[in-house]
Amino acid sequence: MADDLYGAASPQALYDETYENYRQYLNPPLARVMKLSGSPVAVRARGTTIWDHTGKAYLDFAGGYGVFTLGHLHPRVVAAVRAQLDLMALSGKTMFDPLAGRLGKALAEIAPGDLGISFFANSGAEAIEGALKLARAATGRVKIVATRDAFHGKTFGALAASGRDAFKAPYGPLLADVVHVPYGDASALEGPLSGAAAFVVEPIQGEGGVNVPPPGYLTRARALCDAAGSLLIADEIQTGLGRCGELFACNFDGVVPDVMTLAKGLSGGVVPIGAYVARPSVWNAAYGRAPLLHTSTFGGSPLACAAALAALDVLREDRLVDNARDRGAQLLAGAQAVARDYPGVVREARGRGLLVGAELVSEGYGGTIIPEMLKAGVTAAWTLNQQRVIRLEPPLIVTAAEVDRAVEAFRLGAAAAQERLGVLAPSPAPV
Ligand SMILES: Cc1ncc(COP(=O)(O)O)c(C=O)c1O
Repeated sequence: MADDLYGAASPQALYDETYENYRQYLNPPLARVMKLSGSPVAVRARGTTIWDHTGKAYLDFAGGYGVFTLGHLHPRVVAAVRAQLDLMALSGKTMFDPLAGRLGKALAEIAPGDLGISFFANSGAEAIEGALKLARAATGRVKIVATRDAFHGKTFGALAASGRDAFKAPYGPLLADVVHVPYGDASALEGPLSGAAAFVVEPIQGEGGVNVPPPGYLTRARALCDAAGSLLIADEIQTGLGRCGELFACNFDGVVPDVMTLAKGLSGGVVPIGAYVARPSVWNAAYGRAPLLHTSTFGGSPLACAAALAALDVLREDRLVDNARDRGAQLLAGAQAVARDYPGVVREARGRGLLVGAELVSEGYGGTIIPEMLKAGVTAAWTLNQQRVIRLEPPLIVTAAEVDRAVEAFRLGAAAAQERLGVLAPSPAPV
C-alpha cells in the first residue's frame, strides 16, 4: 500500500509541495482559489469517504461530479481490474478483445429499446464527439440542436453543443450550425429541428444547475425528432446508470433515444471510459460501409471494460438504483427543509435520485457554504454552468446516516452564510 504522505516528510510538507506544483506547473489562478477555499490534498479514498493529508475524513457528496456511483475503489471493481492487469491492460486493436465484446453485449441488454451498438472512448466529451459525428454521418445533415445551459464536455464539438457562452467565447468559431433552444420547453424545438441531424439533450441537466424538465418533455422531443427526421441523442453521462433513481433518466418518460452517451460511473470510478450506444439502423447508416471512420486508440481498453463489467454487476446485484431513489428522496427532503429554514440563502432544492441541486439566492453564498461543509467533513461542489447552484451528488452506496450528516453540514453552511454575509442581492433567476 502506498504511503499516505506520498514520501513527503510531514502532512504540511505534502500540502506545500502539492500547492506549489499546482501554482507553478498546473493552473496558478485555480490553485490560489482552491487554497483560499480551504481545499486540502486528497491522499486516499474508499467507499463514500476521502481522507486528506492530515488524516481528516470527508463524506464525498461531490462524488467526482457523478463518477463515483459505486464509491471509491469498490472491491469488486478493483479485483476485476487487478485480475485483468495480469492478462492484458490495453488493447492492440488488431485482434478481437473478449471484454469489449462482453461490455457491448451488456450495454445492449440494459439500454432502452433496441439501442445496441456501442463505441468506446475514454471520456464523456469523447462519447459526445462520437455521437455528434454519428448523427451527421447517419443523416447526411449538419445542424445540431442543443439546449441552453447544457453541458456536454469541453472538446470542440461537445463545447459547441454546450450552453454556457463563457466557456466558448475564446475559442470560436466552434462547430457550424449548432442551434440552442430553451431547456424543458418542447414547443421551442419545432422550428429549429427542421433539417437537423440531431437534438442532443440531457434528460436532467446536471451542470446547468440540476434542472428537471416537466414530465413528457422527452416524449414530445422524441415525437418532434421523428417528424423532422432528426436523431434524438440522450446525454446520460451524468444522469445514467442509476444516478437519478432509474437505470437511465430517459426511462422516466419511457423514451428510446437513437443514441445514448455514457461515461462517469460506467466503469465504477476506477478506470476512465466513455461510450455511446446507438440503434443498429443509425449506426449502419453511418458506418455500415466505413467501419474505420471513427476510432480511438485507447477507447474501451481491457482494463476499462473489466471495470465496467464488474461495475454493472454491482449496480444490479446490490440494487443501487433502488438505493439512489430512496436515499435521493431523503436527501432532497433534507435539502428542502434547509431551504425552508434559510429562505434568504437557499432559493430552492430540486433534483431526482442522488442528483440534488440547491439553488442559492445569490452566487455569493456558495463561497461560504462549500468551505463550511468541508470544515464539517462533507464535500459538495458548484455546478459548472450555474455558480448559483450547489450540487449534492454522493455515491449510490450512501447510507441514510450519511445523508443525514450531509444535510446537517449543508444546514451549518447555510446558517454560516446567513450569519456572515447577511442578505445579499439576489442573482438573476435562471433562464
Ligand atoms: C452531461 C455531461 N455530458 C458530458 C460531460 C463531459 O464529460 P467529461 O468531463 O468526461 O469529458 C459531462 C461532464 O460533466 C456531463 O455532465
